[in-house]
Amino acid sequence: MPNFALEQTPGGLALKSTLPELPGLFLLDYLHGNLGYRLTPERVLHEPLAKVIDHHAWVIDTTGGLGKDGLMLAMMGCKVWMCEAHPLLYPLIEDAIKRALVDSYFNNLFTHPDKFKFFPEDAKNILMRLLDLPKEARPDVVYLDPMFPARKKSSLVKKEMQWLKAIHEVDLDKDNFKKYVVTSETELFELALKTATKRVVVKRPAHAPNLVASPVPNFSKAFQSARFDVYLT
Ligand SMILES: C[S@@+](CC[C@H](N)C(=O)[O-])C[C@H]1O[C@@H](n2cnc3c(N)ncnc32)[C@H](O)[C@@H]1O
Repeated sequence: MPNFALEQTPGGLALKSTLPELPGLFLLDYLHGNLGYRLTPERVLHEPLAKVIDHHAWVIDTTGGLGKDGLMLAMMGCKVWMCEAHPLLYPLIEDAIKRALVDSYFNNLFTHPDKFKFFPEDAKNILMRLLDLPKEARPDVVYLDPMFPARKKSSLVKKEMQWLKAIHEVDLDKDNFKKYVVTSETELFELALKTATKRVVVKRPAHAPNLVASPVPNFSKAFQSARFDVYLT
């Protein structure tokens, strides 16, 4: 029996799990709950991300995940192109975006061509398209938040992070989903360095090693929840 299935529910498209450790439904919601609480234009200004990326920058968020960081950046004032290729995640993001259109703030964000665009595909495609353009037409910042093994004490990890981890551990073949083959984060990073005109920002757990041995970041900013390694381009 598959562990996961996408299911249309009265509240929207949800991911249904039969995993004993994480049973039930997961609905991505940008308006309510933990994510909705953090996603307000006032609150995002206090987020660590607001301290490492210029609020007027054009940012490519190559690792969309649940969309939290990408949306925070857009709410800070950045122009954001966000990519997510996982076949269980991108339909949830697309549905969450559709549902959020009832809110006038999100409606403006998602329908304004210069504020936010979602690409349900491998970020490499987007970076490759931008790479050959003249400098003025390329993004200021490329952002990467690679998957990293979650902390052992799962009670400390927020519910949505548990879902994100479970989604990435599932055997997609068994669950009848298309295999998820994407460009590795290190290859994305190499491309990012060539594409960004100002900086590449990599999010890491506070004490994790750098994403690559070389180059080393120009500087890092550490916060309680994460560290941001900044590579000037
Ligand atoms: C740790 S999560 C990012 C979480 C995200 N920052 C958030 O706020 O929800 C990393 C995500 O990057 C995605 N990813 C990794 N490589 C990718 C690629 N080449 N193209 C698109 N998405 C990719 C994975 O599928 C995963 O969902």
